[in-house]
Amino acid sequence: MPAPPERSAVTDSVAPGFRAPSTEYDDHQPTVEGSIPEWLSGTLLRNGPGLFEAGDRRVNHWFDGLAMLRRYAFDAGELRYSNRFLRSDAYADARAGQLTGQFGTDTRGWRRLVDTLTSLGLPEPTDNANVHVARVDGEYIALTEAPRRVAFDPDTLETRGEFRFADDLPEHITAAHLVRDPHRKEWIGFTTEFGRRPQYHIYRVPAGSRRREPVASLDARGPAYIHDCSITADHVLLVESPLVLSVWRALDPRSQGAIDMLEWQPDRGTRLLVVDRETGALVAEPTLPATFCFHHVNAFVDGEAGEIVLDLIEFPNNEIVGAMSMAELDGEGFPEVPDGRLMRYRIDPAAGTVDRSRRYDGGMELPRVPRAVTGRRHRFAYGQATHREGQNGVVKVDFETGTAHEWWEESVFVEEPIPVQRPGGDSEDDGVVLATALDVDRERTALLVFDAETLAVEARAWLPHAEPFGFHGRFFRD
Ligand SMILES: [Fe+2]
Repeated sequence: MPAPPERSAVTDSVAPGFRAPSTEYDDHQPTVEGSIPEWLSGTLLRNGPGLFEAGDRRVNHWFDGLAMLRRYAFDAGELRYSNRFLRSDAYADARAGQLTGQFGTDTRGWRRLVDTLTSLGLPEPTDNANVHVARVDGEYIALTEAPRRVAFDPDTLETRGEFRFADDLPEHITAAHLVRDPHRKEWIGFTTEFGRRPQYHIYRVPAGSRRREPVASLDARGPAYIHDCSITADHVLLVESPLVLSVWRALDPRSQGAIDMLEWQPDRGTRLLVVDRETGALVAEPTLPATFCFHHVNAFVDGEAGEIVLDLIEFPNNEIVGAMSMAELDGEGFPEVPDGRLMRYRIDPAAGTVDRSRRYDGGMELPRVPRAVTGRRHRFAYGQATHREGQNGVVKVDFETGTAHEWWEESVFVEEPIPVQRPGGDSEDDGVVLATALDVDRERTALLVFDAETLAVEARAWLPHAEPFGFHGRFFRD
C-alpha cells in the first residue's frame, strides 16, 4: 500500500469532515451493529474530496479537495470497506507541494491566468475527478466538471489512467452528473462550449459504447453554470439559472479561479429547457424568476395531464456556492448555508405555462429516487435533511400523500442517501437506503443501512476512521 498523505498541523484544527484521512484501507471488515440484508449484493462506490492541503497551503474551496474513492462491498450480509486517493496528475502535483486548484483555489503565481483559463478546458484541464462515478462501456470512471475522466479498478480502487470518449464533442465544461436511463439502457449528459455562440450539447451514450451521440445543441445564455440534468421517457431537462460563467471576470487580478468567473445576474431569470430526446427540438423554454439549482430529483411525463413534471432542489440565489468555501467550512461549526427547497414544476408545453410548488418544508439536498423510476413517475424521493443545527438527517418525501418522514441523530451528519430496491420487490420503497454518516463527536464515520420504507436503521457499520465528506456515488449490483 503506498504511503498515504501525512497529517499536517493545519488539518488537525479543522472539522473531521474536511480533513484528509491518514490511512488508505483495503478490504477492511468493519464492525457491524444490527444486520445487513442477505439479498444486498453489490458495491457502493462513492467519490468526493479527501485531501485539502499541499505543502503548507490549503485549498480555498471544498470543491477543490483531491479526489478520494470509497468502496463499500456487500456480500451475503457482510461488508468490506476500502478508500483510496485517485492517482491523478493533480494528486501528484499536490504530493509534490503544488496545488493546481480549479474552482476557487488560486494556483501557481504568474501562471494564475493560464490556470484559470485552463480550468475552462483550455488546453489542460484538471483531472481531479472528485464529484461522481459512472460505469461507461464496462469501465468505471471518476468524473468532475472539467472535461477529463479517470478510470479506476472497482475492486482495488487503483487508478487505471485517463478515460476518453471516442468522439470529438466540444466541451469546455462538462457535467459530472450523468443520468442513467435504466429503461433505454443509455447515459444522458451534457457539455458546455464557450465561444462567440456558447452552446449546451446534450448527448447520449448507448450501452456498450464510449461514443457520445449528439441529442441536441442549444444556444446557451450566459452561458450558465449548470451542474445536473434530468430525463423523462421523452425529454431531457436543463435548468439554466442566471449564475453566469464570465471569462472576463477570470481576468481580474484578484480572481481565485473558476469561482470568480461566476456572476449572479438575477435579472436574466431562470430558464427551463425541455428538449425532445428523439428530435432534439426545444419543446419548451419558459423563463421564471431567478433561482439556483445544483441537483434535479427526477422528471416524468404526466400522461393524464399531458404535462412534464420536474422535481428539483432549489436555492433562492447563488449564496450556497460561496458558503462552500473552506474559510466558511473551517470556521466554528458549519456556516449558515441556505437550505435547499424541494420544488415541483409542472410544465405544460402546449400552453407554455409552469406551475411551481414546494413539496417539503425542511431543508433538503443530495436527492435521489430509486433507479427503476428514473424518468418515470416516482412516489418517493430521499435526500439529506439539512435544516437542523449540528447534524444532518435523512428525509423520505411521499409525493402521493404529501408527507415527509425524517431520521436524525445527535452530532451525526448524513451524506447522500442512495436507495437500493430489493430484487423482485413489490413496491418502490421495498429495499434499503445506504448512506455514510459522520459522527463529529466520535470523529468516526459509519455506513448506515436504512429500511427504505420506515427509515429504521437496520445496520450500522463503523468505518475505521472519519471520512471526509464526499459528494456522490452509485450502487452497482453484482
Ligand atoms: Fe452534484
